[in-house]
Amino acid sequence: MAVTINPRRTPLIAGNWKMNLDHLQAIAFVQKLAWGLKDAGHDFTAVEVAVFPPFTDLRSVQTLVSADKLPLAFGGQDVSAHDSGAYTGEISGAFLSQLECQYVIIGHSERRTLHRETDDDVAAKVTAALKHNLVPIICVGETAEDLEQHGPSAVPVSQLRAALAGVTNAADIVVAYEPVWAIGSGQAATPEQAEQVAAALRSVLEESLGQDVAGKTRILYGGSVKASNIAGFMREPNVDGALVGGASLDIAEFSSIVRYQKHVGV
Ligand code: PGA
Repeated sequence: MAVTINPRRTPLIAGNWKMNLDHLQAIAFVQKLAWGLKDAGHDFTAVEVAVFPPFTDLRSVQTLVSADKLPLAFGGQDVSAHDSGAYTGEISGAFLSQLECQYVIIGHSERRTLHRETDDDVAAKVTAALKHNLVPIICVGETAEDLEQHGPSAVPVSQLRAALAGVTNAADIVVAYEPVWAIGSGQAATPEQAEQVAAALRSVLEESLGQDVAGKTRILYGGSVKASNIAGFMREPNVDGALVGGASLDIAEFSSIVRYQKHVGV
């Protein structure tokens, strides 16, 4: 079956490394990933690839990507809501921009649960990212309990509405729908479940930012994405890519996810 690609939205496959790979490992990994994909003839303009290493790796990744002109995007896994000052342990969006980060992940469920980040914190970080010319990848998703109590879309929809509260003009953003029950569990959502929520999220984008921005904004699915299930998600009209955790740490598996079009002969 042919994969539908909305010509207005370049698919994005993003690897969230979480707290894995130090800066030396990151250099070897990024080099192998980029060269492997190039050797395989991957068209980086047709499917964009981004990696999200720990903060301590970013300078090394930037130096490598810039020296070797690698066609890979990269970004941070979080950003401070503040520009600078007495915020021990936080990282300013200004610093990430200086390191040529293009993206930043905001509101990942691990930040929301382990670090008690609220919808207001997420909204403030989204505003900070945009201020520093970073494209926020806004993560939303329901827990298994939410799913039982409120159905599939209610929590992600309300999280996205809250995250966009401070976004006034048409902005470059990415949304990642990541059901908490699917993250790291090996139990991915079905493509139909992902599509149902992605369609609801696109309606929120339309309400908040207008039809044009909604039509251009990429919505990713995340949660136990693997080479064996990616093509199913990418066939859905409102799913424009994936945020990949565990499988992004395996070069062969991640490369195969990036090259999902080959699985279906497009
Ligand atoms: P997973 O993680 O692919 O390991 O389920 C996804 C994520 O947390 O972004």
